[in-house]
Amino acid sequence: MADTRDPGQLLCGRPQAPRTQASLQLRLGQEGRKKVQNDFRIEFTKLAADPSVVNLGQGLPDISPPLYVKEELSKIAAIDSLNQYTRGFVIIIVPFYDCYEPMVKMAGATPVYISLRSKPVDGKKWSSSDWTLDPKELASKFNSKTKAIILNTPHNPIGKVYTKEELQLIADLCIKYDTLCISDEVYEWLVYTGNKHLKIATFPGMWERTITIGSAGKTFSVTGWKLGWSIGPYHLIKHLQTVQQNSLYTCATPLQEALAQAFWTDMKRMDDPECYFNSLPKELEVKRDWMAHLLESVGLKPVVPDGGYFIIADVSLLDADLSDMKNSNEPYDYKFVKWMTKNKKLSAIPVSAFCNKETKLQFEKFVRFCFIKLNQINCSSSQTAPKPPKQRGENCSSCCSSCWEASDLHAIGDPDTRVSSEEEEEAEAEAEAEAEAEKKKKKKKKKKKKKKKKKKKRKRRRKR
Ligand SMILES: Cc1ncc(COP(=O)(O)O)c(C=O)c1O
Repeated sequence: MADTRDPGQLLCGRPQAPRTQASLQLRLGQEGRKKVQNDFRIEFTKLAADPSVVNLGQGLPDISPPLYVKEELSKIAAIDSLNQYTRGFVIIIVPFYDCYEPMVKMAGATPVYISLRSKPVDGKKWSSSDWTLDPKELASKFNSKTKAIILNTPHNPIGKVYTKEELQLIADLCIKYDTLCISDEVYEWLVYTGNKHLKIATFPGMWERTITIGSAGKTFSVTGWKLGWSIGPYHLIKHLQTVQQNSLYTCATPLQEALAQAFWTDMKRMDDPECYFNSLPKELEVKRDWMAHLLESVGLKPVVPDGGYFIIADVSLLDADLSDMKNSNEPYDYKFVKWMTKNKKLSAIPVSAFCNKETKLQFEKFVRFCFIKLNQINCSSSQTAPKPPKQRGENCSSCCSSCWEASDLHAIGDPDTRVSSEEEEEAEAEAEAEAEAEKKKKKKKKKKKKKKKKKKKRKRRRKR
């Protein structure tokens, strides 16, 4: 049987700390596991496991530590609070970008969760701004052991753009409890009409305690580059540099240079509509509205986002028959997405995937749709619908496998609630006829004006 004890145990030749490889693997997950397996220590420790070998490889003393050191430890063992994690707590706002939780755990900290909650909207349009943190609940999550809070604005998956007041509340608590703020702002340029992206690092007292994260992938629509940046004061950034130096080591230089040049191009034309930071959100806002309309038209209840390129929708109103979905222990949204993918050939992401175990139930009615992929949409517009995206009907050259057509989306709806294609065609024909009549009217008016002008000119000439 394979020896599952970790290198430390093997070296000491007797069971020591309970850090078996299995426990290490649990702590590190699959990626970490690979790294552990490839670790040179493991390779050489295995070689040194032969009792005939004298191991002078790793620096593990085989002498007893001084007695007073052990006595100090036994005293401390009696203090309950010190037997818990000493790396402190990190506040994570639910739902969250799924990497946060394992990252916090891998750093040895304990995540503390707080949910965004929506106020009732009754018959009104649902907006991401209806989702807020309860100030009292938020304050209750902070204490002297809170090391950091992870903020994400604009938010994935809800699309919330935090307001000045909301950020001030977080800033005040960070200052009060001397806490770091890790501000994930990868969607900073994707903010829609009526909203403004604010950087918490610019709030008084926050620069020295904030690390702001940006992404080339999200800024310039090059998600495959996997290139980003962190902004912060030297005393924080120097630690990130150490981690980077000893993990990634460096990023691909051509990508960095191309990114720098792209920034240079757009920073010189910040007020120009052509600047990508202005043109992309404008283009996406049309897609957002179109997507919200499509979701509504099939009987779902979308939460219209103020930022980012995802939209979540309450899918429970559809009352889909999920009885043939095998794993009944799964959250509703997992089953719904599997059902939709299998039966309707349309895929999305269940929102409970962005939750910790305890909050999955709160979000299991929601599914996340991405609307930056609407280039290939092929849906007829109705009079009441927002304008479809400009690229409508154009062939998508890069992402056909993941693109979908609105007809697919229509197929998930209930025949009674969805807008029928006949109704849409009728409405479209009517709209076209109206537009044509308007055009003719304008043309006639223009002609008349021209004639009048000519007549006046002739009259003036005759007078002369
Ligand atoms: C909130 C959030 N943060 C970070 C990232 C990672 O961005 P990138 O892949 O550009 O590193 C993503 C990607 O989806 C995200 O949604």
